[in-house]
Amino acid sequence: TIVPDAHAVAECAADRIADAIRSSAARGRPAVLGVATGSSPLGTYAALAARVRAGELDVSGVAAFALDEYVGLDPHHPESYHSVIRRTVTEPLGLDPERVHVPDGAAADLEVACADYERMIEEAGGVDLQLLGIGANGHIGFNEPTSSFASRTRVKTLAPQTRADNARFFDAPDRVPVHCVTQGLGTILDARRLLLVAQGEGKADAVARMVEGPLASVCPASALQLHRRADVVIDRAAASQL
Ligand code: GLP
Repeated sequence: TIVPDAHAVAECAADRIADAIRSSAARGRPAVLGVATGSSPLGTYAALAARVRAGELDVSGVAAFALDEYVGLDPHHPESYHSVIRRTVTEPLGLDPERVHVPDGAAADLEVACADYERMIEEAGGVDLQLLGIGANGHIGFNEPTSSFASRTRVKTLAPQTRADNARFFDAPDRVPVHCVTQGLGTILDARRLLLVAQGEGKADAVARMVEGPLASVCPASALQLHRRADVVIDRAAASQL
């Protein structure tokens, strides 16, 4: 879906998420959302929060699972994804913090933490709708190029480009963590619906490779081509290379 600008991307994505929340509630089982960090979904979260505040959307009982977290950052660090999700999703939408989950990048045993996270998603009944952004190198979550399409939640090394892209959030480029924990492409593909949002020319190449390029692990987002219900909502600038 190509819309004129970032505002329209946010409203369109918020419509789809609100529909998913309402249809799960109508079936008597509050929705399980997959949520992403990064700047791309911020407008969508703001649009959803406005609807909750206006009393148009009831999010009681809604659960959320984040895609990823840095390894070695204190969860209270302002740039940890625990903090980012609390600031941009949990608090503005008024979700129950007990129902919002982020992978544990500070665990003593990361392998166990990854397996626990997979089990928690499964026990919640799986993700109804997974919201995604896309990295300039085609990553989703922190599944960097060459990630296996069958991968599950695991530790990954961040690509140099991703560390450079995210350096703006840290005091100095070398403060960006080197490793992360991320849901795998296989984990993401298990969600019943995928909704990827992207804005701006900087994403145009990655969007074109995701949508029109070959299915290839060098573009992890091309995995969306395998999903039966994947929506891509982008503005004209992000669509400029299609
Ligand atoms: C990070 C996140 C991704 C996100 C990507 C793009 O690396 N782990 O989930 O999609 O950045 O970020 P932005 O939306 O700020 O361009």
